[in-house]
Amino acid sequence: MYLTVCRSVSATARLHAHIKHSMAYSAKIGPSILSSDLSCLGSECVRMMECGADYLHLDVMDGHFVPNITFGHPMVECLRKSVGQDPFFDMHMMVSRPEQWVKPMAAAGASQYTFHLESTTNPGNLIKEIRESRMKVGLAIKPGTTVEELAPWANQIDMALVMTVEPGFGGQKFMDDMMSKVSWLRSQFPSLDIEVDGGVGPDTIHKCAEAGANMIVSGSAVIGSDDPRSVIALLRTAVAEAIQKRSLDR
Ligand code: DX5
Ligand code: ZN
Repeated sequence: MYLTVCRSVSATARLHAHIKHSMAYSAKIGPSILSSDLSCLGSECVRMMECGADYLHLDVMDGHFVPNITFGHPMVECLRKSVGQDPFFDMHMMVSRPEQWVKPMAAAGASQYTFHLESTTNPGNLIKEIRESRMKVGLAIKPGTTVEELAPWANQIDMALVMTVEPGFGGQKFMDDMMSKVSWLRSQFPSLDIEVDGGVGPDTIHKCAEAGANMIVSGSAVIGSDDPRSVIALLRTAVAEAIQKRSLDR
């Protein structure tokens, strides 16, 4: 009996160690505050962190790369002051000249600079500049861009963002057909952080999780809910379970 218990304990420990070593990535939920009351962004960010968010996804739009305008680095600087040093700011840069904002965003307190592949002719140089500014690097693709175009950069970035709507607005319908991009990326880059953004909520999370996404942006589904804490927990559980299942299947 004692031996059996010991064996099963050590088997469980081995399994956990295996999961830890084989899966470098974990489930993370990043509310997009685009759909919140923009007149109280600071308190909305704090509220999301208190409700269990792992990071904050901040959508920067310049009215040129996308047909909408949001905010820039001066707002990020104020947000950083109001929420403190801890929260991770994933800057989703929907702008035509991403090179222009690397240094200002770093100075404002951005943690990760996620630019669009479609917005630059020299992704390699931009990746280098972002690293020199001590931010993490995210690389996003719009629905019309193939994942093969992103692949050559995948080993140089921290995170790939597969857009599941046309960038520009919150509250749009999730595009199922983007999931093949996520699955392909997961199969080719087993430890890469893969983010999905657009129309993700309790109804669509399982598709994202099964395809292999581990960083989940959710705007209207989280912010518009009466109980954001439960929605965040539900999203995280779905992703964590899929990660565990993938590990056991290997
Ligand atoms: C859209 C933005 C998203 C948006 C997501 O261009 O990149 O981050 O806020 O909002 P939902 O989850 O409502 O689609
Ligand atoms: Zn976004």
